[in-house]
Formats: sequence, structure tokens, C-alpha cells
Amino acid sequence: MQAWVIGNWKQNPATTKDVNTLLDTLLTTADDTVSNGCQLMVAPSCIHLANVSARLQNTAILTAAQDISALSDSSGAYTGDCSAQQIADAGATWTILGHSERRQYYQESHESLLEKLSHAFTQGLGVVYCIGETQTQYDNQQTFSALDDQLAVIKDLLIKSKEQAPELVQRLAERLIIAYEPVWAIGTGKVPTVMEVEATHQHIKETVASFDTTLPATTVLYGGSVNKDNADSFAASPMIDGALVGGASLKAESFLAIAHAFS
Ligand code: G3H
Repeated sequence: MQAWVIGNWKQNPATTKDVNTLLDTLLTTADDTVSNGCQLMVAPSCIHLANVSARLQNTAILTAAQDISALSDSSGAYTGDCSAQQIADAGATWTILGHSERRQYYQESHESLLEKLSHAFTQGLGVVYCIGETQTQYDNQQTFSALDDQLAVIKDLLIKSKEQAPELVQRLAERLIIAYEPVWAIGTGKVPTVMEVEATHQHIKETVASFDTTLPATTVLYGGSVNKDNADSFAASPMIDGALVGGASLKAESFLAIAHAFS
């Protein structure tokens, strides 16, 4: 299975100038070893999406949004939202959905995520769907049940699509990636052991497979304080199909070092 290394830039960099500087370094230092060995993708904030997509066109690096509107897949009176169609029109081919920061600060619900996933696949975007347990859930051995609750969105999307829009099932089969990101590991420097991540990834793969036995094996990435020093240990595991990287993706050198580890 091809590895994926995805940089989630979050609300960074703040200016177009700094975005272009990061892109300049990325484009001049990314080499064939990286592009042949793993698929790279970056997710800039919405305001920079068109610029980044245009600059990455005809390169080996894909572009993703960090979120899309739940209210409409195209257009409407939804102040502040960007629809899946607008994201695709800006040149992105993927979107992150369900990131824990969106769940925490914007109260993402099961229903809104179901709509967002449906809108993304309707407009032909691939989806990096983020799930992960909180520190309290981890401490109370509730990781799997927390993930099952979040994965239920995928199950419900499959049920809904089979009834109402069967073409979405195929798109989900081809273009769904799950990113396992323990909330307590994001931006903290704390990471679970590789064995813990492997057990969790196995659970995620088995759970998604149980929703529909015709689905291909699900690609599952690890995210949470991945850096150039610990990437090798995650990359060595056949259960870990890549990484969703936050802070370390803001420097081309560390992002590409992580990509090399997975190549
Ligand atoms: O989407 C990325 C994750 O939130 C990980 O962020 O690498 O800064 O811990 P981090």
C-alpha cells in the first residue's frame, strides 16, 4: 500500500508571502525519492488554497482543504462557509474532515460530519477523516469505543448512500483515508507507543471492513506530534500507512524528512 504524508498547516502561515516561502523551499527540496515513495499532500487554510493549488499543479504534491461546509455542497446563504464545490474549484482534490480542533472548537456533530462527507464525495473530493480519543478516554481505556462512535459516521454514510446515491459508495471506497490522531498527542510532544498505534489501526481497519465487506483495505494514517526524529519508528510498521503532520509540516526540511521515512 502506498504511504501518505500529509501536512496540515492549520491557520499557518499567516501571510501569502510566508506561504510562498514555504512552498518555494518545499518545491526546490522535494526530490524523486519522496515523490516515488510516498504521496505528499498539504492542507493550507482556505484563503491560501487557490494559490497553493495553482503552484502545486503538475507537481507530485496534492492539495487539500481543512474543512468544508455542512450546509450545501455548492452555494447558498451560508455566511463564512466554503462548499465542497468551491474547494474543488479552487483546485484542491481532497479535504480533511472531523479534525479534533474542529470537533472541539466548532462542536462538529455526527450529523454535520455525515453531511460534509456526503458533500465531499458528491463533488469528487477525497476525504481524510480524522478520529481520536481524548486524554480522559485514553486513561479510562475507552479508546476503541470513542473511535467506534466517530467511525459510525462512515457506517451511516454507507447506509444512506446505498439507499440514495450508490455512486458515493464507490467514491468512498476509492478516496477515503482515516487519520488516527489521539487528541492528547496533538501538539504536545507526547506520542503513543508504536504497538498502541498498531493495535488501534488494526481496530479501525477491521471496523471499517465490517461496515461493508466489499471495501478495499482502508488506509490509516497516524497523527499527533510526528516529527523527523520519531517518524522512522512509525514508518517501520506495516500497520501505519503514513502520517498526518501538523507543526513539523511548517518547515519543508522536517516535512520532507518525515516523507523520506515513509518512502
Ligand atoms: O492534523 C495534524 C495534527 O493535528 C497533528 O498536529 O503534528 O502538530 O501534533 P501536530
